[in-house]
Amino acid sequence: MRRKLGGITIQFAYLFIVLSTIRISTAVDTFSPGKPIKDGESIVSPGQLYELGFFSPGSSTRRYLGIWYKRVSTGTVVWVANREVPVLDKSGVLSITDQGILQLSNGTNHVLWSSNVTRTPRNPVAQLLESGNFVVKEGSDSSTAQSSYLWQSFDYPVDTLLPGMKLGMNFVTGADSSFIYSWKSLDDPAKGDIGFGIDSHGFPQLLVTKGPAIEYRLGSFNGLRYTGTPRLQQNLIYKYTFELNEKEVYYHVDLLNQSIATRYVVNTSGFSGRLVWKDETQSWAIYYQAGEDQCDNYKTCGPNAKCNINDSPMCSCFEGFEPKSSRDWDLLDWSSGCVRKDPIDCRRGEGFVKHEGMKLPDTSMSWYNQSMNLQDCEQLCSKKCNCTAYANTDIRGSGCVLWYGDLVDMREYTDRGQDLYIRMSAAYLESLRRQSKARKRKRIAIIICSIIFVMLLLGLGVILYRRRRKVKAREKIKRIIDKYYNTNSRSEDLELPIFQFGIISKATDHFSDRNELGKGGFGPVYKGTLPDGKEVAVKRLSMDSGQGLEEFINEVILIAKLQHRNLVSLLGCCIEEDERILVYEYMSNKSLDCFIFDQSKSRILDSRMRINIIDGIARGLLYLHQDSRLRIIHRDLKTSNILLDKDMVPKISDFGMARIFGGNQTEANTKRVVGTYGYMAPEYAVDGLFSVKSDIFSFGVIVLEIVSGSKNRGFSSHDHMHNLLGHAWKLWTEGKMLELIDNNLDDSSVAVSEIVRCIHVGLLCVQQKPEDRPNMSSVVLMLNGESSLPQPKQPGFFTEREIFETGSSSSYQKSAVSVNEITMTMLDAR
Ligand SMILES: *[C@@H]1O[C@H](CO)[C@@H](O)[C@H](O)[C@H]1NC(C)=O
Ligand SMILES: *[C@@H]1O[C@H](CO)[C@@H](O)[C@H](O)[C@H]1NC(C)=O
Ligand SMILES: *[C@@H]1O[C@H](CO)[C@@H](O)[C@H](O)[C@H]1NC(C)=O
Ligand SMILES: *[C@@H]1O[C@H](CO)[C@@H](O)[C@H](O)[C@H]1NC(C)=O
Ligand SMILES: *[C@@H]1O[C@H](CO)[C@@H](O)[C@H](O)[C@H]1NC(C)=O
Ligand SMILES: *[C@@H]1O[C@H](CO)[C@@H](O)[C@H](O)[C@H]1NC(C)=O
Repeated sequence: MRRKLGGITIQFAYLFIVLSTIRISTAVDTFSPGKPIKDGESIVSPGQLYELGFFSPGSSTRRYLGIWYKRVSTGTVVWVANREVPVLDKSGVLSITDQGILQLSNGTNHVLWSSNVTRTPRNPVAQLLESGNFVVKEGSDSSTAQSSYLWQSFDYPVDTLLPGMKLGMNFVTGADSSFIYSWKSLDDPAKGDIGFGIDSHGFPQLLVTKGPAIEYRLGSFNGLRYTGTPRLQQNLIYKYTFELNEKEVYYHVDLLNQSIATRYVVNTSGFSGRLVWKDETQSWAIYYQAGEDQCDNYKTCGPNAKCNINDSPMCSCFEGFEPKSSRDWDLLDWSSGCVRKDPIDCRRGEGFVKHEGMKLPDTSMSWYNQSMNLQDCEQLCSKKCNCTAYANTDIRGSGCVLWYGDLVDMREYTDRGQDLYIRMSAAYLESLRRQSKARKRKRIAIIICSIIFVMLLLGLGVILYRRRRKVKAREKIKRIIDKYYNTNSRSEDLELPIFQFGIISKATDHFSDRNELGKGGFGPVYKGTLPDGKEVAVKRLSMDSGQGLEEFINEVILIAKLQHRNLVSLLGCCIEEDERILVYEYMSNKSLDCFIFDQSKSRILDSRMRINIIDGIARGLLYLHQDSRLRIIHRDLKTSNILLDKDMVPKISDFGMARIFGGNQTEANTKRVVGTYGYMAPEYAVDGLFSVKSDIFSFGVIVLEIVSGSKNRGFSSHDHMHNLLGHAWKLWTEGKMLELIDNNLDDSSVAVSEIVRCIHVGLLCVQQKPEDRPNMSSVVLMLNGESSLPQPKQPGFFTEREIFETGSSSSYQKSAVSVNEITMTMLDAR
């Protein structure tokens, strides 16, 4: 082509110069009878894009009348009048007769080529239009409608489609310009092998042909594009139209931007496509080329098969079909295509299977009706026994096209394909239904199984996670304990057993109500039996200790080190995630309050035993306050916290809880008031101030309760409103303190003076001002000595109401006061 262009260009360069000098005066784009165009002359279109004249293609010397580009791509021929009958020399002349007939004659006046007209015009002229269309019209006619022309070159395309040309045929007149053909060779513009055009035998389709054979089908038009060109789109350069009606069918391109040169061309090398002139490169760029890949080659896969360029092998039979020759098929020779496994024979039950994303099959043998809908289409197809498939003619959902016999040249696209409905046998459809049912069942089964699987997995994950957390927690506890023993206790050889939660749980029968010994303020206490048969009391702490695990263990270990005859010993602890459990030795006789406040049981405790109990409590408390390495303030001393072993030896329990729960202040203003009404010292209950002296107060109350066998709180007397303390004080001031002594204490195991001494010490302990109260070592001395004791002053809280009156200034509210035997914990709002 380049060479040819070069040839033409060089050949005509001289000519153009000559002609343009001539045309300066004439500027012809029309010519009329009596003014023929001789070889060597030319006419130029307005806008100078096209030029008409004589030329010799390539290396040939033969002369042809043609139209070529002038302004761009100079010399590229777009139309040839006498492509089959060249002028052998430069004697050719183009003239127009009075009848408007164009005639091309040679030197001996032989007419080699002529146009013909349907009517006789007056004053005919021939004109080369801006579009490149060479027309014959009446000289007076200024209309530009194509129908007004007597003749136009656009009706006789050669190998090039220019914008504005119609490729197609007129069913009424029979005028057929439905194909363009390439030149025979670069030197010969005669009709060559390669064709491009519209096949309108069935539903019209665009084809590229080579000789009589189809090379590639762009396919039928589906309203938006051709079925075989999913990627072709409308654009800014031109608008393509495919018109199909009763009168005509044609393909047509309108230029949207007049300054752009574009043409569709088929050439001798088999190229069929659209070129666009690029000013920047001064060359033609391929805008569209027919036939992209192997699947586009006509009938690549043979009949009843589809081609998918993404598959390997790319050819496959439709479902329900099988290769006609599996040997050829295996050798990748697909030309024989596929045949049905179950032949169709127009029986009842036959139906259609939808295939999406298809390039519709060859329509040359099809039938169509553009106004039918899909339902009617299906009905029509099932009625016709040899109808094998149907589809919409318009992808937007209208029209009907039917195929008979084999379906050929189909491919499958990933998108922008069309739906094709292929007829299938009743047996096949039945098996399909069964399959889909089975598949549905299978899918459901799979879904259920996977749900179960996921749930199992989740469950397992949760279990593993928990176990891991437990293991981690255990490891941490172990680390802390190991660390503790390594640093602190090598010399002292103390063992604090850490019980496993499982063992504790088993020992208490899963903390069953039957084993519950009582409910303290810090949580319930259970009786448990360890695997070795040892009985223990298990305190399950219900409150968050408010401190880290390490501090908790440290505290527990410290508390466990407190060993005294009058303290309940801590045997161990159990820490598991949120569980904090303390394990104590079990006291078979439970707590002191069970005896002294019980009419029948209180008889068991004679004076000696009561004195001993008071003494034991005092010694235990002394140990807590002074003798142990730690200074422990109990803060919740009461009769129910005094346990009795089988020998009625009193043992203080629940000591150290304040440490465990509230840090280790010795005397401080605490936010958390722990204690029980009836036993709390006024300064503690009201101001939250605690010290050893608040324990002394509680001790004093206990002493008076033991002696009197009455509870301080809830004490009632017929002649005053005072509580036990007030009662004792009243008796004391009246010198009638013997009346305080429990009626059940009629034994004479000890001297009355000893009991009175206890009352005296008790009253000293419950004095209003903490600084007046003796400390524990003095108390022990007083209890055991003979020396005279100081006079007690008025006790604190000697009336029931006093607590509320005194407390009214603070945040205490009556509603916050719990049942008197239950340890009360309050957050002071100050
Ligand atoms: C046919 O056209 C294509 C595209 O422009 C070009 O590459 C090819 O060289 C042409 N062949 C001939 C023989 O002109
Ligand atoms: C003109 O064409 C005729 C018919 O093809 C031919 O016989 C004659 O020789 C030609 N004349 C010239 C000058 O080529
Ligand atoms: C028109 O010209 C074609 C060939 O160019 C010819 O076959 C046909 O008979 C002509 N028709 C008339 C009406 O002259
Ligand atoms: C037409 O095409 C030319 C060259 O590509 C461009 O400069 C121009 O803007 C286009 N005009 C329109 C209306 O698109
Ligand atoms: C096409 O179908 C429509 C509606 O079904 C019908 O009216 C019309 O006659 C049909 N045309 C042809 C050519 O069969
Ligand atoms: C299909 O059958 C119809 C009659 O029902 C017949 O006219 C037509 O030629 C047949 N076509 C083919 C391809 O067999």
